[in-house]
Amino acid sequence: MSSIVLFGPPGAGKGTQAQRITGHTGYPQISTGDMLRAAVTAATPVGLEAKSFMEQGLLVPDQVIIDLIADRLKHDDAKSGVMFDGFPRTVPQAQALSSIIQISHVIAIDVPDDAIVERICGRITCGTCGTVYHERFQPVPKDGCSCGNYVESRRSDDNEEVVRSRLETYHSQTSPLADYYINKGIFHKIDGHRNIDEITSEILSILS
Ligand code: AP5
Repeated sequence: MSSIVLFGPPGAGKGTQAQRITGHTGYPQISTGDMLRAAVTAATPVGLEAKSFMEQGLLVPDQVIIDLIADRLKHDDAKSGVMFDGFPRTVPQAQALSSIIQISHVIAIDVPDDAIVERICGRITCGTCGTVYHERFQPVPKDGCSCGNYVESRRSDDNEEVVRSRLETYHSQTSPLADYYINKGIFHKIDGHRNIDEITSEILSILS
């Protein structure tokens, strides 16, 4: 099994691109952020542990994440490959992953910090199907979400104070992971400060 990692700062467009590319690769999108939010909503032991880290824009402890991913990869839909969105985020997470599956491509979406706050503070999500939109850059279509039941949802960590903390966490703990994958020769950095369609085309061309 060979899999893909979408890497980049908060608001880089990892989720947006994963939703578009999964239709081309057939790989399921695995977002640790989405899994953790579901666990928080369901008040599971993982959710109860993760909640305060997420609210402060800090990383949830590695072992919690590694166990979550190891369980998720046992599902049938993960057998022929997956697309990770927001995982791994530390070298220990990447090392643990390498003992379970092989990664063929790490796509790093590069966006300057000053563009991130506007992206995140304007993010809206369809609460029914999870499609990501933006008030200005990717508005909900006039006839509503393609799922037919648009319900506006916003994340509690999408405010300026927490975004700045998430960015600090990214620079101190996650961006050093780039060297780990550069050394493996599978790291592809792309300019994420462009039109969403152009970014999708470049990712698809790298994957082909
Ligand atoms: P997570 O949910 O993974 O959040 P994140 O990494 O901060 O990333 P986002 O989901 O905010 O951004 P994105 O890159 O997916 O951007 P999107 O496509 O939505 O993690 C949340 C928390 O969970 C973490 O802080 C941490 O506590 C914990 N956590 C998760 N994984 C963990 C792990 N592995 N280890 C430890 N802790 C973990 O786009 C953003 C907005 O911009 C949208 O509105 C979109 O429409 C818009 N947009 C997208 N592309 C463009 C473009 N090209 N131009 C203009 N606008 C665009």
